[in-house]
Formats: sequence, C-alpha cells, structure tokens
Amino acid sequence: MFKRLFITKSIPGLMAETVDDSHGLKRTLTAFGLVGLGIGAIIGAGLFVRTAAAAANNAGPAVTIGFVIAGIGCALAGLCYAEFASMIPVSGSAYTYSYATMGEMVAWIIGWDLVLEYALGAATVSIAWSEYLNKLLGYFDMKVPYELCHSPFEVLRNGGGEVIAHGIINIPALFIVFLLSLLLIRGARESSLVNAIIVITKVSIVILFIVFGWSFIRPENHTPFIPEPSIFVDDQGVSHNFGGILGILGAAGVVFFAFIGFDAVSTAAQETKNPKKAMPIGILGSLAICTILYILFSYVLTGVATLEDFRTAGKEASVTFAIQTYMTGYGWLAKLVTVAILAGFSSVILVMLFGQSRVFYSMSRDGLVPGIFSDVHPKFRTPYKSNLLFFLFVGLFACFVPQDIVGDMTSIGTLFAFLLVSAGVWIMRVKSPELPRQFKTPFVPLVPILGIIICGAMIFGLGWANWMRLLIWMAIGFVLYFTYGIRKSKLNNEIKNKSNNQ
Ligand code: ALA
Repeated sequence: MFKRLFITKSIPGLMAETVDDSHGLKRTLTAFGLVGLGIGAIIGAGLFVRTAAAAANNAGPAVTIGFVIAGIGCALAGLCYAEFASMIPVSGSAYTYSYATMGEMVAWIIGWDLVLEYALGAATVSIAWSEYLNKLLGYFDMKVPYELCHSPFEVLRNGGGEVIAHGIINIPALFIVFLLSLLLIRGARESSLVNAIIVITKVSIVILFIVFGWSFIRPENHTPFIPEPSIFVDDQGVSHNFGGILGILGAAGVVFFAFIGFDAVSTAAQETKNPKKAMPIGILGSLAICTILYILFSYVLTGVATLEDFRTAGKEASVTFAIQTYMTGYGWLAKLVTVAILAGFSSVILVMLFGQSRVFYSMSRDGLVPGIFSDVHPKFRTPYKSNLLFFLFVGLFACFVPQDIVGDMTSIGTLFAFLLVSAGVWIMRVKSPELPRQFKTPFVPLVPILGIIICGAMIFGLGWANWMRLLIWMAIGFVLYFTYGIRKSKLNNEIKNKSNNQ
C-alpha cells in the first residue's frame, strides 16, 4: 500500500504519451504566445483590487514591500517551475511534474490544490469584474443593485455604520464565467488571439496610470510608510494584523494573488511548439515584466488615495475611484481604465479556466479523476465537458462567496503548490541528476530552499482562518483520493496487472 502511494511516472513515458496523440490537443502556441498567455493570466484582480484590500487591511503603503516579497518568492519558485517545465514539457503543470518526481499521492495533493489556484482564482477575478462592471454602468447612470452583485455574506453600511443592504447573489460574476467558458470550448487558438489583444491594452493602462498618477502622489499618504503594528477589524467584522512585519507578510500573501498565473503557462506545454525552449522564456519573461510594473503601480496607488478611502468608498474598483477622486482632469483615464480592466480581468479568467481544465485533463487521463474530464470535443478538440463542469463549480463560488475569502484561498493554495514544486526540483536533482534539462535552476539547493522559506512566510502571514480552509480542502482531497483515485489510477492498475500476470 505504502509503495502504491509513491509510485512515479517515468519521464520518457510521459514524453511518449504526447508524441503520437492524434486525439489530443493541437500544438499552436509559440514562446511569444506564452509570454502573452502569462501576462494575460498575471495582471488582473490582484493588482487592480487586492492591492487596495492589502493596503486597507494589512500594510497601508507598505503593500509595496509586500509586492517585493511576493515577487521574490515567485521568482524563486518560477526558476524551479522553469526547470521542471523544460524537463517535462507536457500538459498538467505542477501536477505532472510531481507525478514524475514525488509520486502519485503528492501529485494528487498538488492537482487537488491547483483547483484552489485556478478555479477559485477564476472566481475571485470574476467577482472583481463585477465591481468594475458597476463602475462602467455608472457612466451610463445605471447599476446592478447591491443585492444582485454581492454574496450573501456581505453587507453595505452607510457612513454611520448602519447596514443598508445585504448581498444575495453575484450575477455579473456568474455571467462572465459563463461567457468565457463558452469561448474556451471554441478552442485555445481563438482564445489566445483574443488574449494577445487584451494583454497589450492591460499593460498600456498600467503604464498610463503610473506615468500620470506619479505627479498626484501626496507624501502624507506614504507617511508612515510602514504603519505601527496593530489589529484592524474590517467592516465585515474580520480582524487582521495591521502594520509591522506581520502586516507586511499578510499583505505579501494577499497581493501574491497578483503574481499567480505565470505557472499557468506551464499547463499549456502540450499545446506549445518547441516547449523545451519556449516554456522557460514564457514563465520567467512574463514574471519579470509584471514584477516591475506592480511595484511602481502600488507605490502610485497608495500615494494618490488615502488608507481611509481603501476602507470605505474606494474599497471596490479602487483604481477608478482614485483617478476620479484625486486626479483632476483625468476623467478619460478613469473610463479607459475601467474598460481595459474589464477586458483584462476577462483574459485572466480565461487563462485560469484554461489551466484548470488542462490539469484535470491530465489527471483524468491518468485515471485519478473521472474520464469525463478528458473527453475532447470532436470538432473543437477541447475538453468541453470539463469546461462546463468547471463553469458550474467556479460559478457557485463566484455567486455566493466574498472576494476576500476566495482570493486568500487562491493565494494560500498556490503558495502551497509553489512550495512543493520548489522541493520537487531539489529532490529531482538528487534522485535523477542525469536527466536532460534544457533549463537549470541556478544555485540548487539554495534557490529552492529560499523559495520554500519565502512562500512559507507568506502562508504564515495569511493567518489561521486561511490555514484551516487549506486543511479542510486538503482533507476532502484525501478522502477522494483514497476512495476513488488510488483505485482507478492507471499507473497503479498497470503495475498490479503486471505483477498478477507474473
Ligand atoms: N494574477 C491574477 C490576478 O491578479 C490571478 O488577477
């Protein structure tokens, strides 16, 4: 039994699976396309929504330092991802890498954990999309009523703290997930073209905001840059460590969300031309561009608007709020930003949904989850049933769970996966040093160890409520693995059959 848990896939076997795969996925993406896919997944709600939340609840202007920490953690884990991706360029991301290195049970843990990253990540961004949609409608004197664009766990208070509305369901969030699930079913090629256009728009507005916002920075908003440690209780009654080291670590964990996505690139390996070369470029290139933009952007945002704004009127759609309120003469920018953000969020949701269905595609082909997740559409050659099932799953969270909760669950789940991937690279160097690697992580084991420490520190910063959520999610995963996965696993069954025949 114990041995079955740690059974590993052979790397040559993994590669062979993709060679003659006439019923599988089409190879259409290039290195350039991958950087696009990466930035498409990276810049999104983390920057345009979670930055303000982290400033309000955790660190004030020191959220900028949070971005630096999160960026360093991601670069370290990214280097590990890149080695794996160049060594095992097949679909499935960290899931596949760990199946080849740390065995089936760890692969399951990671695959299950990636649902937090991709599916809940998509839900988080769809909730943010709903916030900015309301801003857009506001330009036409329309709006979705509070009740129909918030979860049942959220309330709206007036200036005196009195509750004036209760959320019921978030319909715009559900709508966008539905629309993008349909687009994905049409095929990855069309989706990545749409994605490329959106990426250009998104990067442009980030740069515009930095350039035009710079002269509106008020030094008093940046003072003190690192607030004194205290406890802050938000308007939903949740307490947070604010200021000091703990606040900064918490902020890093929250805005870490903004970096999630560069690893989604690696899930597209099976649809990439020359993946050995293209993968590391896609992963590290997109990460480097985003890190620089984030540090500058968060510095400007927290300099333009006040902390109090991010806790009250500017809590939702914070970037548009900051421009409208403080950047006189830039009404056009607020409008442009709103539209671009809506498009930008759509591209993030698209890549997240894409990544999710591809991880489950691989898990399903391995027998660990039901076959329905790898049924490919006869014409579009996409895993359409999986896309539809995940539409339902993501839609449920988008409709009924507050953004803070799904956002932080996404962060903690992804951090955990990064931690395991970093450990995996190190294990693999010791276990199979002879395997060819197109890209090698520098300074092993130092880089993986630092990656583990920094990702671990951010997990710590996210606090006990999130640790519990991660544990519960993992416990559900274990029950499913021991009641279904291990029994249906193709690899385990092959080995069992072989030993029965001998
Ligand atoms: N990094 C992505 C975002 O910020 C998930 O929306």
